[in-house]
Amino acid sequence: MDKQIILFPMTKLNHHYQKLGSNYIFSEIEKRVEALKIKLPRSSILNLGVGDVTTPLYPPVIEALSKATQEMGDKKTFRGYGPSEGYAFLREAIAKTDYSNLISPEEIFISDGANTDIANLQEIFSVDNRVAIPDPAYPVYVETNVMAGRTRPLLKTGRYGGITYLPCTEENGMQPQPPYAHVDLIYLCSPNNPTGLAMDKELLTRWVNYAKAHEAVILFDGAYEAFITSDAPRSIYEIEGAKEVAIEIRSFSKSAGFTGLRCSYTVVPFELKLRDAGAIHSLHSLWKRRVETKSNGVSYPIQRAAAALYTPLGQKAMRETVQSYIERAQFLRDGLKQLGYTVYGGIDSPYVWCKTPPKVTSWEFFDFLLENAQIVTIPGIGFGQEGDGYIRLSGFAEKSVIDETLIRFKNLA
Ligand code: MLT
Repeated sequence: MDKQIILFPMTKLNHHYQKLGSNYIFSEIEKRVEALKIKLPRSSILNLGVGDVTTPLYPPVIEALSKATQEMGDKKTFRGYGPSEGYAFLREAIAKTDYSNLISPEEIFISDGANTDIANLQEIFSVDNRVAIPDPAYPVYVETNVMAGRTRPLLKTGRYGGITYLPCTEENGMQPQPPYAHVDLIYLCSPNNPTGLAMDKELLTRWVNYAKAHEAVILFDGAYEAFITSDAPRSIYEIEGAKEVAIEIRSFSKSAGFTGLRCSYTVVPFELKLRDAGAIHSLHSLWKRRVETKSNGVSYPIQRAAAALYTPLGQKAMRETVQSYIERAQFLRDGLKQLGYTVYGGIDSPYVWCKTPPKVTSWEFFDFLLENAQIVTIPGIGFGQEGDGYIRLSGFAEKSVIDETLIRFKNLA
């Protein structure tokens, strides 16, 4: 019997993924570090690359986590699915402590990481929107918009067509300025990762006014707000009218050592509305709809662990840890300065943004430090074209690692 060949249409990929220029920067760095470990198995590598924490979870957090885990093993206290948006006990604690109840618990959505939310929020906006992104910035802003099809291909300049880049240069104080042209969706991060600089009230007010005038929405990444030591606003909602134009994302990862546990939250105010096709839409309702469909929430023990951060002991532990990271970053910043480097950040942030020697690119300096001193940094170009000529160093490293880093930098001179 003749075999009949049936031709099916081929499965198609999301071709926007093909536009992505290179590996995800943090994975690429990990790959290079692993290669170095094989090449120099006896060397002591100083890792100031990815911003991962080194202080373990606080005792009240461990206690809450253990207690909640025990509850899950007892028929009387066992819990199945929780609310997609998060348990009321955590949302209420956040509203009261972090926002003095100026934000209501219902406006807060608990999630498994600021990265997750910052990557997914763009989904509730049309792909036709014009997006503005600081340069340099956390690479997730650009890459998730590329994946979603909101950009044109990567250009020879190393930038994607269709994005409005907001250059952060020495000339403008390394701060993103509102553009003259119209944009719809604006990513801001304060203190900015990687430059380590926080935006002041005047600049944030200009952004809020811009968003109002253009009916634009600001996605405000506050993952590092706990590290602000100056009088810069910690929340965009300190700016009048911001609730009408901004979504804020915060994280327990860096301030409370949750990079492994995973918990964060996003605030979508009720006042935030968008006009589309002649009707007014609530972004809160849209995000709630999305969360309910696509998530079953964060696990109960982890939310209990996060709630323990809002007890007096939890708050004290968090303040002390953040303070110790800031001291490390400042020590690193001062040490590099004394060695003649131009540095930014390290005051309101755990990150130090260090200029490379003249005519040395960020990859060249990264490779030089890795090969000659086994110091791992992040090349600035991984955060955008304006990041070339810089490297980022993380103050989350152990103090002994930072001490040794400065010694090795000195020996390189
Ligand atoms: C960073 O190093 O910038 C961050 O830790 C990476 C992340 O949070 O995903």
